Amino acid sequence: FVHQLADPAVAPAELLASPLAPTAESGLPLPAALYGPTRPNSAGADLACEAMRAPLLAAVAATRVPAVAEARPEDSAAAMARLAAGFGAWSARPLAERAGALRRAADLLEARLPEYCGLLVKEAHKTLGDAVSEVREAADFCRYYAEQAEARLGEQLLPGPTGERNTLRLHGRGVFVCISPWNFPLAIFAGQVVAALVAGNPVAAKPAEQTPAVAARFVALLHEAGVPEDALALLHGPGETVGAALVADARTAGVCFTGSTQVARLINRTLAAKDGAIVPLIAETGGLNAMIVDSTALPEQVVDAVVQSAFRSAGQRCSALRLLAVHESVADGVFTMLAGAMKELSLGDPALLSTDVGPVIDDEAFANLERHVARLRAEARLVGETPAPAAPAVPRLVAPVAFEIGAVEDLREEIFGPVLHLLRWSGDVEQLVARINALGYGLTLGVQTRIDSRAERIAQLARIGNVYVNRNIIGAVVGVQPFGGEGMSGTGPKAGGPHYLYRFCAEQTLTVNT
Ligand code: NAD
Ligand code: ALA
Repeated sequence: FVHQLADPAVAPAELLASPLAPTAESGLPLPAALYGPTRPNSAGADLACEAMRAPLLAAVAATRVPAVAEARPEDSAAAMARLAAGFGAWSARPLAERAGALRRAADLLEARLPEYCGLLVKEAHKTLGDAVSEVREAADFCRYYAEQAEARLGEQLLPGPTGERNTLRLHGRGVFVCISPWNFPLAIFAGQVVAALVAGNPVAAKPAEQTPAVAARFVALLHEAGVPEDALALLHGPGETVGAALVADARTAGVCFTGSTQVARLINRTLAAKDGAIVPLIAETGGLNAMIVDSTALPEQVVDAVVQSAFRSAGQRCSALRLLAVHESVADGVFTMLAGAMKELSLGDPALLSTDVGPVIDDEAFANLERHVARLRAEARLVGETPAPAAPAVPRLVAPVAFEIGAVEDLREEIFGPVLHLLRWSGDVEQLVARINALGYGLTLGVQTRIDSRAERIAQLARIGNVYVNRNIIGAVVGVQPFGGEGMSGTGPKAGGPHYLYRFCAEQTLTVNT
């Protein structure tokens, strides 16, 4: 919520003639000791309650990640033929039947929460808190798209002249190829697949090669929930071969992709070069996300929001905070408090409840982050760092770290890990927003201010899909905060929003002279 400025006579420092004039807030000393420990992944009620926690911990301990077989070119071709042949039957199923399968899937997922959490912790190295949230999000996608399909995809009778009946109908497009990333290997995978299915499309699903097992378990669950083999095929393997072949296949009628901007561009080029039908692409991609803090913001609220946004999930969220821009009049205080909070984070084994930040996904990600941090150590000012454990219990731990940089433009590309860039700003906030827009990404933005009109103005100017005021910038809730960006962050429509399913459909207007 947006706090009102208690005393309108206390103008924010950046609006006064002298930028050094202190506000009530900027005058406060903010030693790290005042902040105390943070627990950004404390995962709410699920993990607070022993009866819920015990089966989760037992499942994690018992989980062994099964191996999967990579699809050979002939497997993909056979699957596409089977799905293309199954299109008619699946799209002819009544909407209520397709939606019913999604609702059964949601119930099964929730009943098997520990099993899926075990896979998410062991295969994707999620903390247990993040794993619980992800299973719940996947179930939310199933129920939300079931409800949206029934509410929006039915026939509509349109007004027309006497003697004529006009009807608008929506139907599936044909085989949809769904390609997903490793960082939400269940929720994003599930969201794409069930949206395409409920809209009447057979689906060829290609999960990330780092996280195939959880996707395989969910596909088996969808079959159990009533989705036939001819409507859903799972194809494992590298994106460059298996994914690229599915995109290029002549039977592909639509592509739903979540991943890097770079791969989205490649897919777009392949689709554009194809003969025949024009194939739509739904792409949800990366972000270079900022948070703007003015001198009226509450420092404790800012630091809590920053710690969650930048370091939760080891910074491996497309929505995560990469650039914290704090007004110069309060920057020293906020940076000091942030450094204190970062010292309190616990870095380690994601299977332990005490862990706030687990490992990054693979050796390549680890090496990229190490290189980036080494460059920042040489070129920027270190502000805060989480102490690394003396004897790491798991490999690929990247300690949360924050560096002060000189300009928005020093950031060029998405850094996918717990590395935060800090900036002091002064002058006109509208110019700051213009510079953030000019980065070209448009996924999430945070605003911390107690001036409502300023928050509204920033949101109006920002070419950014999800703007959060006076809170963290991660964890969009299905149906509550429809999620997705613009520019280099994606094409829309927003996942978990009321317009999403339409993009999976073709429309037909039927005009009958009665
Ligand atoms: P990635 O682009 O490397 O891979 C994503 C998927 O694309 C994987 O399944 C991969 O196998 C496949 N792929 C790779 N090359 C391909 C090709 N040539 N043709 C077809 N498929 C190909 O991304 P990643 O490393 O798995 O995920 C991290 C990225 O995803 C980050 O950029 C992150 O911001 C983004 N992301 C975006 C959102 C969002 O909603 N906007 C959500 C999560 C992640
Ligand atoms: N939907 C995810 C979030 O908001 C990516 O963090």
